[in-house]
Amino acid sequence: MPQILSGKEVSLSLNEKIAARVAELKAQTGRVPHLVAILVGNDGASQTYVGAKEKACETVGFDSSIMRFDAGISQEELLKEIDRINSDDQYDGLIVQLPLPKHIDEEVVTHAIHPDMDVDGFHDINMGKLAKGNPGVKPATPYGITLMLKHYGIETSGKHVVVLGRSNIVGRPMSLLLSDSSDTGNATVTLCHSRTRNLAEYTRQADILVVALGKPEFVGADLVKPGAVVIDVGTTRVDDASRERGWRLTGDVNYAEVSPIAAAITPVPGGVGPMTISGLMMNTLQAFERKVQNA
Ligand code: GUN
Repeated sequence: MPQILSGKEVSLSLNEKIAARVAELKAQTGRVPHLVAILVGNDGASQTYVGAKEKACETVGFDSSIMRFDAGISQEELLKEIDRINSDDQYDGLIVQLPLPKHIDEEVVTHAIHPDMDVDGFHDINMGKLAKGNPGVKPATPYGITLMLKHYGIETSGKHVVVLGRSNIVGRPMSLLLSDSSDTGNATVTLCHSRTRNLAEYTRQADILVVALGKPEFVGADLVKPGAVVIDVGTTRVDDASRERGWRLTGDVNYAEVSPIAAAITPVPGGVGPMTISGLMMNTLQAFERKVQNA
């Protein structure tokens, strides 16, 4: 049976370290990091995610504010709110939970957040720094995955990593982070996507396979090399009448099929999900530390 890579456990261990650092910073500055989350409309999954982020802030000793807006808010009004938060010194990090209603352009909103406060790491300036290997805010989910690999001592240097999916939130930045020159990088990375031909030919070469497609149970045992490390980023709600709430979370990997042949695998839930939040907490702590250093 494979090693289970528990994001839940790793995030608890990171939370303790972050909380200790927050206590030091509080003694030094009289302040703690403050994260603002903007939530537009009432999408069920988004409310759950933002709620989990708020709880994590409480656990590590950050202040947090959720600013909720009606789905009918105009783009202009939303941009004004972001501007107000950008220029208010009491706030250190700002995220706008995606997706946004159709009449709001996510690109425009993402770029309205000041790059120093962009603790999701979605801004072009931060993505550009990542692409060039310069220090910047790393996208929360890929960063969280590197923290998890580090925690379990999974070496990436010289390994062949295959990333499935080229989204701006996960696949593309993941491929950049794992190929950069750092202690959680130095891998040989292949980025596969919906137009890749002969997908199995690539994925079966992967020492580490990162799957971020949003297609429930897409990866079966036929796509995985025995002994590979499998990181499943998918979290799709699928109908499940046997559950009281009527749905369950499903990953992009067919866990029953793949887990017997993998050396290590992340479960869904309890794998990458908590690590996204850890990445966000680390980014918020670092945003605060930069501010303190520059004061
Ligand atoms: N929607 C799905 N994932 C994310 C995330 O990591 N951050 C934000 N802001 N929205 C998301």
